[in-house]
Amino acid sequence: MLAHNASLLETESAFDVLARAEALNSNGRRIINLGIGQPDFKTSAHIVEAAIRALKDGHHGYTPAPGLPNLKESLVGYYADHFGQAIDSSQILVVPGGKVTMAFAMMLLGEPGREILYPDPGFPIYRSMAAYTGASALPYAVHEELGFSFKASEILSKLTDNTRLIILNSPGNPTGGSNLDSEVEALVAGLRDFPNCAVLSDEIYARLHFDGRQHQTLLKFDELRDRLIVLDGWSKTYAMTGWRLGWGIWPKTMIGAATKLAINVHSCVNAPAQFAAQAALEGPQDAVDDMRAAFQARRDLVHQRLNAMPGIRAAKPKGAFYAFPNISALGMPSKQVQDIWLEELGIATIAGTSFGDAGADYIRLSFANSTENINEALDKIEAWVKSL
Ligand SMILES: Cc1ncc(COP(=O)(O)O)c(C=O)c1O
Repeated sequence: MLAHNASLLETESAFDVLARAEALNSNGRRIINLGIGQPDFKTSAHIVEAAIRALKDGHHGYTPAPGLPNLKESLVGYYADHFGQAIDSSQILVVPGGKVTMAFAMMLLGEPGREILYPDPGFPIYRSMAAYTGASALPYAVHEELGFSFKASEILSKLTDNTRLIILNSPGNPTGGSNLDSEVEALVAGLRDFPNCAVLSDEIYARLHFDGRQHQTLLKFDELRDRLIVLDGWSKTYAMTGWRLGWGIWPKTMIGAATKLAINVHSCVNAPAQFAAQAALEGPQDAVDDMRAAFQARRDLVHQRLNAMPGIRAAKPKGAFYAFPNISALGMPSKQVQDIWLEELGIATIAGTSFGDAGADYIRLSFANSTENINEALDKIEAWVKSL
């Protein structure tokens, strides 16, 4: 009954693990969730108030498909303030979640005979959606010893005249790594020889760099702007995963098609949520800074404690809220470790294989949980590792 390409869709294991953890929870088991990738903070009150006010003020109807004009202007200001970049509001498409920009980029650029390159290990939806379009989904490596950056020479060696999209993600899920500036520069230079190849830069963790590092958006490369799609959103930065709000910045030549796709798929984004989104961008940013500081302190804790465990080696996350320790020395497939930790220890994590074949030696722990819970989980993991 289903079209052939439906069989090419994969899933995001984080949601399966969440469902299993919740099932165990409802049976009375205490589960510490280090699985799902969402901040354990509440959306700030002024953002919630803006949505309530919008509803009370009668904003119950459709909005323009690309997003409310004031919200888009607010995004222009956001890029100037936070990243020092000028963007044109006519190139912004506000969408129901960062994932939608990802899907649209691949639907607009992928088809049989074309290639899409994605990071492995990387966010699982890249490979899934790329394959769904009928394109060849081709992985490129990110290297633990480079802080989980790619090597430009490796990506460039995979490019052909049929490569239409390269997906980059920094800070990265699941690794917590970030791409090296020197490698990004070398890649952008190398792309001069491949004018038909676009770049999707997934910058959803842009405001979650640690140790004072500033985000380097790919928008800073003028030469890339006519084929660069930037994906970002409110989910992680403002603890708004359930609001379903994201944005894309599209090249002038693609924004028309992307907007048409939006009209075909979802018409526009939830109206009151867009008022909340504007309040998030324009209001106080203390909650973002506090959240980043909390994640950094937990990063230090998780990094230090994991490395003190026999058989576990953890690179220091540079951003986002994930640790991606190498557990190959435990001598067990990462999926088995995931299952034991969940079923026996009551700790939800995600096997590295859920993020691509190159994740086999790793397991992802989200530190979007309280220090107390993280310590309790690490105590149990440490005791288990020592018992092997
Ligand atoms: C790298 C990356 N990109 C995009 C997304 C999707 O974000 P959203 O929940 O806004 O759709 C996620 C969510 O986990 C992510 O980790």
